[in-house]
Amino acid sequence: MHLLPLLAAGILAPATVLAAPSWLWPRDAALSTRENLCSLKSPPQLCTPNASVTVEETALRAYKFYRAFVVDGDPRTMFSLMDSSYIQHHAGYSSGPQAIWSLFCNGRKIGSESSTAWCFDAATNMSYAQYSTTDRWRWVDGCVHEHWDQNEKIPKDKCYKLPTSTKPSTIAY
Ligand SMILES: *[C@@H]1O[C@H](CO)[C@@H](O)[C@H](O)[C@H]1NC(C)=O
Ligand SMILES: *[C@@H]1O[C@H](CO)[C@@H](O)[C@H](O)[C@H]1NC(C)=O
Repeated sequence: MHLLPLLAAGILAPATVLAAPSWLWPRDAALSTRENLCSLKSPPQLCTPNASVTVEETALRAYKFYRAFVVDGDPRTMFSLMDSSYIQHHAGYSSGPQAIWSLFCNGRKIGSESSTAWCFDAATNMSYAQYSTTDRWRWVDGCVHEHWDQNEKIPKDKCYKLPTSTKPSTIAY
């Protein structure tokens, strides 16, 4: 559970959070840090599709995915947001998270938040990450489900606006 973003998005009432056990807080209070998981043959956890996940929650997850992938180098969080299908449109790679695990397990950082960009378009359920290239992912039932990276462009006027309290300096996940 990542309670602070949900609270910030108005998904959880404050009383719900205050009622949460205190052991949830210390882990959620810090930004994720780089982690090398290449000793594992497979991602430790994937995303379980859940049709009840809201658009607001998906937008927060899309931001969290961008942070994990591009800025933090956090493969544990990154793959925990990908479903087992992960339909791949990059030539030479088969579908499924396993096919790209070896590329990301070492927690490489790609760029800072200020030198890169992200977007979630709620009308299409597509999220984007722009660095030296631009990736596009389709979200289904709260999970990353499909990926493209050929001639993608962030639809700048359509990007979901996260609540300002979920900016990286204060976001907890
Ligand atoms: C599915 O998502 C909803 C909305 O976020 C959540 O309340 C529910 O607990 C989730 N179900 C499971 C099995 O995780
Ligand atoms: C986007 O996802 C939501 C659920 O989060 C769904 O209700 C909606 O139909 C989806 N929109 C498209 C265009 O697939």
